[in-house]
Amino acid sequence: MDILSITGAAYIVASLLFILSLAGLSRHESAKSGLTYGMVGMGVALASTVALVIDNANDTDNSLAILLMLVAVAIGAAIGLWRARIVEMTGMPELIAALHSFVGLAAVLIGWNGHLEGAHYSLDSLNNIHEAEVAIGIFIGAVTFTGSIVANLKLSAKMKSAPLMLPGKNFINLGSLAVFAVLTALYVGTDSNDSSTADVLLLVLTALALGLGWHLVASIGGGDMPVVVSMLNSYSGWAAAASGFLLNNDLLIVTGALVGSSGAYLSYIMCKAMNRSFISVIAGGFGIEAPASGDTDYGEHREVQAAEAAELLAGASSVVITPGYGMAVAQAQYPVAELTSKLRAKGVEVRFGIHPVAGRLPGHMNVLLAEAKVPYDIVLEMDEINDDFPDTDVVLVIGANDTVNPAAAEDPTSPIAGMPVLEVWNARNVIVFKRSMATGYAGVQNPLFFRDNSQMLFGDAKDKVEEIIQNLP
Ligand code: TAP
Repeated sequence: MDILSITGAAYIVASLLFILSLAGLSRHESAKSGLTYGMVGMGVALASTVALVIDNANDTDNSLAILLMLVAVAIGAAIGLWRARIVEMTGMPELIAALHSFVGLAAVLIGWNGHLEGAHYSLDSLNNIHEAEVAIGIFIGAVTFTGSIVANLKLSAKMKSAPLMLPGKNFINLGSLAVFAVLTALYVGTDSNDSSTADVLLLVLTALALGLGWHLVASIGGGDMPVVVSMLNSYSGWAAAASGFLLNNDLLIVTGALVGSSGAYLSYIMCKAMNRSFISVIAGGFGIEAPASGDTDYGEHREVQAAEAAELLAGASSVVITPGYGMAVAQAQYPVAELTSKLRAKGVEVRFGIHPVAGRLPGHMNVLLAEAKVPYDIVLEMDEINDDFPDTDVVLVIGANDTVNPAAAEDPTSPIAGMPVLEVWNARNVIVFKRSMATGYAGVQNPLFFRDNSQMLFGDAKDKVEEIIQNLP
């Protein structure tokens, strides 16, 4: 059997493993096996591609190519292992955004390589298809590259999370798309002997796409970043698929399409959960106007100490805990799990209310609570628990902010207006665990903190929950 048949078969096996991986990852219980399928699939894909490149290089007696490839794989693997080992759970979204930017950059480089090598088909129409693949691959790759860099900077707070509101921003986005279409048509139509015109057209196209990627993501506000991350995930898939067409690599086309479509579907689900228009978000906040300035005076807030909070909890019959990003920062999930089991042992009904975008990545809170062995059946989704708050004695808001902000439901001028939130303010008592009166990720003030039934418990969430456990009667 020749190497092409072997790699062809290996690519089919890898594609099937990737599909099984996605299926596994869609459910909590099967997520671990899903990951294993993905890792084995990637191992098969990498090994067969390396074997193919070595075989090609042997045919042309190019041992330098083999050496360079093996060094590149070794360096990439070493950096990947190092980053994966040291990354904190809270740093995951920005790492993912950085990884998407690499896919985008790779697609740009592959596109340019395709351009410089040129197409050598005897049919003109096939040469034109090759050129269109080059232009489209570079465009999607460049948008993904700069878009992911901005997402990384916003998620790591190195760039303001507020949306950039350039005048005529919708016109900039739509105009860039129109210019891209014209540039592609011109590039495809260029005479194959006129390489300098083609170079210039492709350079302008690359610069345009880099600028568009930057602008698209910069225009989206902090509260919508979860959707942006999954949208960039989708773009990176399409960029990889475009590279697959250029490199004639079926596995890259299949994998890219899987990532592209599953990322698009995830973005759609997130948009529905956050009551955002899918089209508006993928079009860089299309149709969203500048938010009103948030200088409203909400009055005074009240403070509470751990001992009083412990007393309140011990006397309650129903308690709901709504965790957020601060629980992840403080690593408070273990004492929270201990407090839960102590209260349940006293006969208090304790449940958790999880907002779909609490924390910094989909399912962030579920992962932390599962890690601390909180039983699944008391961890409820936002929709399952929202109607129960009026009958709840005490809500513990542990490091959550945007996801419990009543302004989203009550103030149509708020930047997070319309986003469904956990309606904790309907409970009899609300205790908010945080370190200061600072705003959450979306940078919006939270009127919950000033409500008559709310009390602030200032300090690190882990320390404060531990203090409550010590003070429980
Ligand atoms: P946030 O609105 O981000 O608020 C977290 C709060 O935790 C902050 O107000 C902070 O206040 C507090 N905090 C931080 N460290 C703490 C500590 N050690 N102890 C106690 N409190 C601490 O949280 P959220 O309600 O989970 O909302 C998530 C936000 O992130 C949403 O806007 C969402 O759109 C966005 N986002 C989500 C995702 C996904 S997919 N989930 C991805 C990207 C962005 P202090 O500083 O005063 O302590």
